[in-house]
Amino acid sequence: MQALILAGGKGTRLRPLTVYTPKPIVPVVNRPFLLYQIEVLRRAGITDITLSLSYQPDKIQQILGNGSEHGVTLRYITEPSPLGTAGAYKFAMDGVNETTVVFNGDILTDIDIAKLVEFHKEKGADATISLVRVDDPTRYGLAEADSDGRVVRFVEKPKAGEADAFDINTINAGIYILEPTIMDLIPKDSNASFEYDVFPAILDKNIPFFASVMDKEYWRDIGTPANYLSAHHDFLSGKITEFDLEKTNASDVATRAEIDKTSFIGEGCVIKPGVRIVNSVIGNGVHIEEKAVIENSVIWSHTRISTAAEIRGAVVGRSCHIGRNAVVAEGSVLGDKTTLTDYTKV
Ligand code: GDD
Ligand code: MG
Repeated sequence: MQALILAGGKGTRLRPLTVYTPKPIVPVVNRPFLLYQIEVLRRAGITDITLSLSYQPDKIQQILGNGSEHGVTLRYITEPSPLGTAGAYKFAMDGVNETTVVFNGDILTDIDIAKLVEFHKEKGADATISLVRVDDPTRYGLAEADSDGRVVRFVEKPKAGEADAFDINTINAGIYILEPTIMDLIPKDSNASFEYDVFPAILDKNIPFFASVMDKEYWRDIGTPANYLSAHHDFLSGKITEFDLEKTNASDVATRAEIDKTSFIGEGCVIKPGVRIVNSVIGNGVHIEEKAVIENSVIWSHTRISTAAEIRGAVVGRSCHIGRNAVVAEGSVLGDKTTLTDYTKV
């Protein structure tokens, strides 16, 4: 069995964070995001993983290497131009005559892939899709299955009216198990989408297409700043526990700095007296001067936060400079190398 991670999107909705860091490797609790997906696949015994890339592929390859450090073998395929989700699958996996697990590259989940594969086999499916319940399905692919688990309808990004026609709110979780037969439905070297082209074609042709609805598993698309920040809060509050995140003690923290138990501090940070850090993740090599306050926020590596600055509910990119007494308010997202002069409010 093989796996393919679709990681070629531009990450537009996560800008400005993705200007210098492609979405698949944005740090989540100080770890490149794709390592969580790699771990989920490895747990299911799937170690041959292809990464389908298009945007800033070199940076991703540089960070993840050949995979040996993470117990897997990584193969990289870069499209000359984005081919869409299904086009990317065809481009990367044509000729690989094996069942393939396909992952959208921006899904944080602790799903048990081995169980999903078992379900796929039991049903004799050509394609299996994982579904998850959400409150507002209009931002996703809405899918409905019958009582036997057979997919009966699929609408990508339904308009509010279209969504009303479904009396369920189970959406495409962005995880598929596909048999090589699905490859025949995708034209070679042209743009094609699973969501808009292939799934409707599968339904049209009555090909065995099954869905398994997540129950207690954790699931989140990290592709917007609000979701990215929420994913961190989910880790800190213990909503996602399947990954071992070790806290290191490799920073210089003043005894009179206050850091709550939930926060994570990277390596090589300098944290001065009177600093207060609550429910936050601080990257490596961050300097925080006296009396600065950081609450419910994510700070990327090598940023400097000056005396008495206040950051709440925000994401601050890499190598930023936050001036003295500056205030960064709830919902702010600062791209890499942003400079805020003293007393600025954003
Ligand atoms: N290689 C490659 N080439 N990858 C691509 C391309 C492409 O042309 N286009 C998108 N991707 C990757 C993105 O990098 C991302 O990891 C994944 O495919 C899905 O694309 P998104 O742009 O994040 O889609 P979405 O979030 O709007 O919707 C998708 O995910 C939802 C779940 O989060 C759909 O699959 C929905 O049906 C689903 O509900
Ligand atoms: Mg997405």
